[in-house]
Amino acid sequence: MAISSRLDTARVLATVLLPTLAKGVIVRRPGVMALAEKTRSDSAAIDTLRHLRDRYGPEPVRLRITGRSVAVLVDPADVGRLLAESPAPFSLATREKKSALEHFQPHGVLISEGEERRRLRELNEGALRPENVPVEAVVRDEADLLIRHVMSTGELTWDGFAQTWWRIVRRIVLGDGARGDDQLVDDLKALRQNANWAFLHPKRRGLRDRFQHRLDEHLRRREDGSLAAQPGDLSGQVPHWLFAFDSAGIVTMRALAIGARGTRGVLESARLWPTTPVILRESTEPTRWHGTWLPKNTEFIVFSPFFHRDPERLPYADRYAPEIWDRPLDPAIVPFSGGPGVCPGRDLVLATGGAMLDALGEHLSFRVVDAPLPRTLNHFSLRLQATRTGTRVS
Ligand code: HEM
Repeated sequence: MAISSRLDTARVLATVLLPTLAKGVIVRRPGVMALAEKTRSDSAAIDTLRHLRDRYGPEPVRLRITGRSVAVLVDPADVGRLLAESPAPFSLATREKKSALEHFQPHGVLISEGEERRRLRELNEGALRPENVPVEAVVRDEADLLIRHVMSTGELTWDGFAQTWWRIVRRIVLGDGARGDDQLVDDLKALRQNANWAFLHPKRRGLRDRFQHRLDEHLRRREDGSLAAQPGDLSGQVPHWLFAFDSAGIVTMRALAIGARGTRGVLESARLWPTTPVILRESTEPTRWHGTWLPKNTEFIVFSPFFHRDPERLPYADRYAPEIWDRPLDPAIVPFSGGPGVCPGRDLVLATGGAMLDALGEHLSFRVVDAPLPRTLNHFSLRLQATRTGTRVS
């Protein structure tokens, strides 16, 4: 069985897990992101995983951590299996995820189990179909304003982008009546900052109640043309949707930085810089891997940047390669996860992000980051120099 040496366990903790936690699992911390970019922290993490694979072979590598069985996957086929066999015997609702997400979405599908999970999963899949909302019209409407602003200043910053992005998100999720409600997203951000600390941070009931109350007011309108008009009790699910749309904005901004267009551009940005870099599962029974049994309650770790950017296996590891999405993919390229627990918001993200890239790209062209693409790209500090392209905004 592959059990990592104490030194290698320390290396995984120091270069893979701690930096991921420090950057902020639930909401990114700008200072740490800047440091991560400077110190090329994702490169160090990927090198550690390659070292594990070279030293211990393809089977899951168990870390020496007292009181918890933890295994790191290094074989792409194992990633495929882990995700295909979720939620049983590989549960999405791991102990660590529960303690983080209970801060702001205690009723979300991601930390639900059994019959409740089945019901909530169905609710999410039904509601999050892109055809349920006029995505393109909303995006174009808001993008027009942003284009005018960028044309006058000559550059697109993260702050300018994010302001437009959140208006789009609130209109798509809650309707036009929520367009200007910055407070809603600010409150959610404060809750997410606490969630970064998971069980170490006390839960702020007052803030959570205020946020949920505000959200429920918007939901009560069930505005036509928004996700809020979808059937079912959405109140417990929407906090996750709003939270996850933050990642979608980051992915879209990074896609602009590499000159990407359309839905495959969004997919590539998410492959190159996964916003869920660590996918976790916890086994509900003993499971067998490459001839070795791992006990029940083993925590499995998939560190996706390693699989997405492995130069030994992928000739396109460090360049923009939209064509890879047209053919069967490597089973470990999983920016939106995979199997029955795949992100149910994926198509909506692709529609929204793709529409934004196309709307901005019709009027603006940006000076872009060149290949080989860096393994860490701090979106907070992106300032994209823009020049006008052909079409005029009327
Ligand atoms: C770039 C944007 C996004 C990325 C990269 C992404 C990625 C992911 C990943 C990797 C998971 C699996 C997490 C796990 O296994 O622990 C997931 C789950 C989920 N995502 Fe997304 N997501 C994005 C945006 C969204 C959006 C905008 C929504 C909703 C509007 C959404 C809804 C969900 C839900 C409800 C789950 C839980 C699924 C379940 O437990 O079965 N996601 N997402």
